[in-house]
Amino acid sequence: MNNTSYIEESAGNLKIGNLQLKSKVIAAPMAGITDTVLRQMIRMFSKDCLLMSEMLSSEALKFNKEQKILLHDKIENPLSFQISGHKPELMAEGARKLEPFAQIIDINMGCPAPKIVKNGDGVKLMTDIKLASEIIKAVRNAVSIPVTVKCRLGWDFNSKNYIEFAKMIEDCGADGIIVHGRTKSQMYSGKANWEEIGEVKQAVKIPVIGNGDIDSPQKAKECLEISGCDGIAVGRGIMGDPGLIGRIEKFILTGELQPEPDIKEKLEIALLHCKKEVEHMRNELNGIKFMRKFFACYVTGIRDATTYRADLVRCTKLSEVEAIFEKIRNNLE
Ligand SMILES: Cc1cc2nc3c(=O)[nH]c(=O)nc-3n(C[C@H](O)[C@H](O)[C@H](O)COP(=O)(O)O)c2cc1C
Repeated sequence: MNNTSYIEESAGNLKIGNLQLKSKVIAAPMAGITDTVLRQMIRMFSKDCLLMSEMLSSEALKFNKEQKILLHDKIENPLSFQISGHKPELMAEGARKLEPFAQIIDINMGCPAPKIVKNGDGVKLMTDIKLASEIIKAVRNAVSIPVTVKCRLGWDFNSKNYIEFAKMIEDCGADGIIVHGRTKSQMYSGKANWEEIGEVKQAVKIPVIGNGDIDSPQKAKECLEISGCDGIAVGRGIMGDPGLIGRIEKFILTGELQPEPDIKEKLEIALLHCKKEVEHMRNELNGIKFMRKFFACYVTGIRDATTYRADLVRCTKLSEVEAIFEKIRNNLE
């Protein structure tokens, strides 16, 4: 099959359970990153992609402690809420709480963060297929909207169990699988293995979403072609570039490669992001502090980026951020 016919045949849609999505691109969940503000920024460039919340702990949900992460706006729909934990009943209870405002419930079985793994949550569940299956069945039975599971290839190189795990996910009644093509041991190092994600696609009938290292329209297409996946999820590439998913969708649908934002456009987007974060947090200092991790990404590729980064992380006021952006613009000329 040549590339053109591939693009035409796969014209941007993805069905997860009874939810028909008009885009096969998903904004991957990232704790501390994909809050309601960033999701709305992504939505400005992509009206159809599925957005995902940061992970919500089922324990915290029980005690109504995740209120900030729960914040969202209707404009974000279709929106998937991701839940983490290891107790089937608590996970079911959490999913029931999320169902009224989610279009999908996603179960986190891929997070490798030490704090999560120590609890028996996230990717640790890939080492206990029985418990993982009980969780999926409990969540499946608790809600009537589609349920997906996000996982990795396994714990480490010698214990990759992605095929067995994917078949279990399907047997438990889940409607889709998002696979990050790395093991827990790899964390974020090495390369995501899109061929092995393709093996998952071959092993099950439910939709499989490939994830890992997709940071450009070309890589998105390459991942779709190599893995044969039904969709793709994009994570870190969004940081400092909320328009990336929109450009990926355009490329997948039409083959047109839209230009990346130039430095001035990037600064405009960064300032809008910053203003929205300050407004959202109703506190200038907290909003600016939250933006620090994004500033580094927004100025990447700019001459003297290291100096600007150092200046930006010291900012405490919006006016200071604006002044640095102005300086960057002036230095371009
Ligand atoms: C800062 C950060 C936070 C993340 N938080 C989550 C999370 O809450 N839930 C989850 O399933 N994955 C989480 N991930 C993993 C991403 O969703 C994604 O699987 C991973 O970054 C690989 O995709 P990428 O190469 O496109 O970034 C996180 C990743 C990063 C870098």
